Amino acid sequence: GTEGGGEVFCDKEIVRMDKAKRKAIIAGNWKMNKTASEAAVLVDELIPAVKDASCEVVICTPFTDLVTAVEKTKGTNIHVGAENVHFEKSGAFTGEISADMLVDLGVEYVIVGHSERRQYFAETDQTVNKRTLAALNAGLKVILCVGEVLSERKDGITSQIVCAQTEIALGGVSADELKNIIIAYEPVWAIGTGETATPEQANEVCAVIRSLIERLYGKDAADAIVVQYGGSMNDKNAAELLAQPDVDGGLIGGASLVAEKFTAIVNAASAK
Ligand code: PGA
Repeated sequence: GTEGGGEVFCDKEIVRMDKAKRKAIIAGNWKMNKTASEAAVLVDELIPAVKDASCEVVICTPFTDLVTAVEKTKGTNIHVGAENVHFEKSGAFTGEISADMLVDLGVEYVIVGHSERRQYFAETDQTVNKRTLAALNAGLKVILCVGEVLSERKDGITSQIVCAQTEIALGGVSADELKNIIIAYEPVWAIGTGETATPEQANEVCAVIRSLIERLYGKDAADAIVVQYGGSMNDKNAAELLAQPDVDGGLIGGASLVAEKFTAIVNAASAK
């Protein structure tokens, strides 16, 4: 069990709900790429390509592309997300975007706590928590990103780091609100590097996160929560990663900018 030793890796005796009962989510994270005109082209390519997907398809775009993405995807199976959100409702926060502003546009998802925000924009576990609560309050679904850096993995503290990030981010989140949380496990050393976690490494940490959710919210919540893997997932390696029992989808950076590659990943998730 998870109690006692504190060792949650390889908790093989826990019988999990069949992952097929969780709907996989494939989400693109466009990062700071694509002007609105370029976004229009990519969305036009994606709409027919992913229309028969049995997984949930999300594209998270720069703020300036959101209107285009929302307008173009109306009546399709593509859902639109932002890449960040501010935690205050409104006010003197020059350059920031509130959750209400996103909801009013028709945006459904938002990425919170991406490692690039943590690394380059002073995001902390505390601000990740504040953004998560603000987004949930406004009715957004949150793709909450967690993950260790290479030195933490080498030091053998991956599960502690990822669990601490997750638990702090979820502070004050109710069991009901948890239904609007997707957790993306993204080892920082695998993001944009071409170095993917092995399927076993990805699954191991996704399972650790699920065990933490069980400890915090109970078994039903743990069985239901979608845990994605992210970090150099592409059209070649997606099937193997998505076949893992605790990997319920992917957060895709580079490969989400190319319609054929993103579609191949959506197809790999749909085949599960
Ligand atoms: P990548 O990015 O697929 O380009 O590694 C993933 C992410 O940062 O979400």
